[in-house]
Amino acid sequence: MKFENHVLNYQLKSVEKLRVKIWDNSQSASTHIAQSIALAIRQKQQDGEKIVLGLATGSSPIKIYDELVRMHREEGLSFHNVVTFNLDEYYPISPNSQQSYVRFMNEYLFDHIDIPKENINIPDGTLEMTEVKAFCEAYEKKIDLYGGIDIQLLGIGRTGHIGFNEPGSMEDSITRLVRLDAITRKDALKDFAVEEKVPHRAITMGVASIMKAGTIYLMAWGQHKSPILQKAVEGSITPSIPSTFLQRHPNVKVYADKEAAAELTRIKTPWLIGMCNWNKDLICNAVVWLSEKVNKPILKLTNSDYNEHHLSELIVEQNSAYNINIEIFNRLQHTITGWPGGKPNEDDRHRPERATPAKKRILIFSPHPDDDVISMGGTFQRLVEQGHEVHVAYQTSGNVAVHDHDAVRFLEFFTEFGTSEGIMGTEGDQRIADLQKFLSQKKSDQIDIQSIRKIKGFIRRGEARAGARFCGLGEKQIHFLDLPFYETGGTRKNPLGKEDLKIMVDLLDKIQPHQVYAAGDLADPHGTHRICLDAILGAFEKLKTKKWRKDCWLWLYRGAWHEWSTHEIEMAVPISPNELFKKRKAIFMHQSQKDSPPFPGDDEREFWVRAEDRNRETAQKYRNLGLAEYEAMEAFVRWKFD
Ligand code: F6R
Repeated sequence: MKFENHVLNYQLKSVEKLRVKIWDNSQSASTHIAQSIALAIRQKQQDGEKIVLGLATGSSPIKIYDELVRMHREEGLSFHNVVTFNLDEYYPISPNSQQSYVRFMNEYLFDHIDIPKENINIPDGTLEMTEVKAFCEAYEKKIDLYGGIDIQLLGIGRTGHIGFNEPGSMEDSITRLVRLDAITRKDALKDFAVEEKVPHRAITMGVASIMKAGTIYLMAWGQHKSPILQKAVEGSITPSIPSTFLQRHPNVKVYADKEAAAELTRIKTPWLIGMCNWNKDLICNAVVWLSEKVNKPILKLTNSDYNEHHLSELIVEQNSAYNINIEIFNRLQHTITGWPGGKPNEDDRHRPERATPAKKRILIFSPHPDDDVISMGGTFQRLVEQGHEVHVAYQTSGNVAVHDHDAVRFLEFFTEFGTSEGIMGTEGDQRIADLQKFLSQKKSDQIDIQSIRKIKGFIRRGEARAGARFCGLGEKQIHFLDLPFYETGGTRKNPLGKEDLKIMVDLLDKIQPHQVYAAGDLADPHGTHRICLDAILGAFEKLKTKKWRKDCWLWLYRGAWHEWSTHEIEMAVPISPNELFKKRKAIFMHQSQKDSPPFPGDDEREFWVRAEDRNRETAQKYRNLGLAEYEAMEAFVRWKFD
């Protein structure tokens, strides 16, 4: 489904220099691209011709490859006439290593379709340095020999790179060896785990090689792509942002999901482009923006403030600044509540939650074992204190994010305790020795064996239990789901499966909650939060005929990776200094994630610092808008089913 525009289409052209389609989610956008590719493949087959595809790796094209594989399996789409050129490969790298793009392409696409092996071209990361130049020239020539690329898939890096054409790449650059930008190396950490292992170089097709393609699809999914997408689409052409060169290509189609499109002017501040299709949410967005822009609380905004900042249209529609100010001030005021489970025996018409039932069954979903306390630790504790029946369900084991040295520590503890109590036998001793040996000899890109994964999962379970207990829960209210999609041992996860959904459905149907909390924080490095939310929504869909389901409200939190914009917030729960301190303590229970977790993402602050900073910032923003002053606030948005 396509996303609704707030501005008229013809006005967009003055701002957006690339054609952008915004989609509700990356799945529908990817399916659409895959269908276009399939159509082109079939058309060429009819004409007895080959088709040349330029392929990308990374997280962006995965759903397209999934859909192509599905079409091959279920609809007989053949790839016998397809020739592919991949954009790039790390250098040096062995094709078998976890992070190699050869392995990526085989796992996601080539192993599952009928493409002739000789039609596959990927830059070679195993070459001697002296061979690289000739290889690159030959790669470029081979693309030309095939008559150029018909359809090119591109992701966009946070540096604005396409392929590995990093800032500074010129428009006439061709296939070559390049240095990776520091930001790109940081982003690659999600696959390599330790920085020293991320290669400094790569072989990439150049900007000119890409620009020769007939049709280009540039994909951007997720909030972390929104600032760079805005620059690529609306900025001036510059080698500092190589994706801006695409503005000179006649046939580029940008596909973005809502999150990646968030910084485009047409979404963020559409009133700066022209006439808007005003609704209440957009008015709230504009008023909050104006208040921040002129640095005045909402109730002090004047007609001139509106007129001088492209918002005169709003004044005409709503009569005066006074009316708009009051309406939006009240709307924001009503989002604030110290009773996240609803305030008993109170008029709830202007409160975020219902007053009845006074004691609710509440289920908090936490994608990783610490998201509950990081993102809503204050609200969690309030819900328990206010007498609700609160459950927490940890969706994944989180085992990938435990350091080996922590597993070693626990093995040592186990041995020492077992020996001192005389409960370790020869078999047990041997088992522990084998596991210790595995860890001491483990290569950097080696996947953990099952027992080590278990140990790492148990470490996180212990921490999660301690955190939930600290928030006031008993054993029976703590659920570990260990969803199977996560259990690959690596950072690449499986797609959501039937078993995952069944686990979710069973738990929801057992608890029959009035309120569910889930992570709407979709910018985590490996996409686990997204899959976990899909699992919840999929389960709700399956349960839609159940009576309890109609009475169940779903609230989304954020906090570990980013926060809601103020105008989006529908429930803001104030946190006192004392409560904030208690929240910090709950986060501290997650010792394996303190100091330096294996996957910190692009934010170097520890999780408790990020959480406190974000919660304080939300409170500060409310205060600046002229609302009451609090120490901190946790923010939620209510999911609208259909
Ligand atoms: C990958 C490539 C890169 C990625 C870009 C986005 O072959 O050339 O340009 O497309 O770094 O990566 P993801 O999709 O992982 O966000």
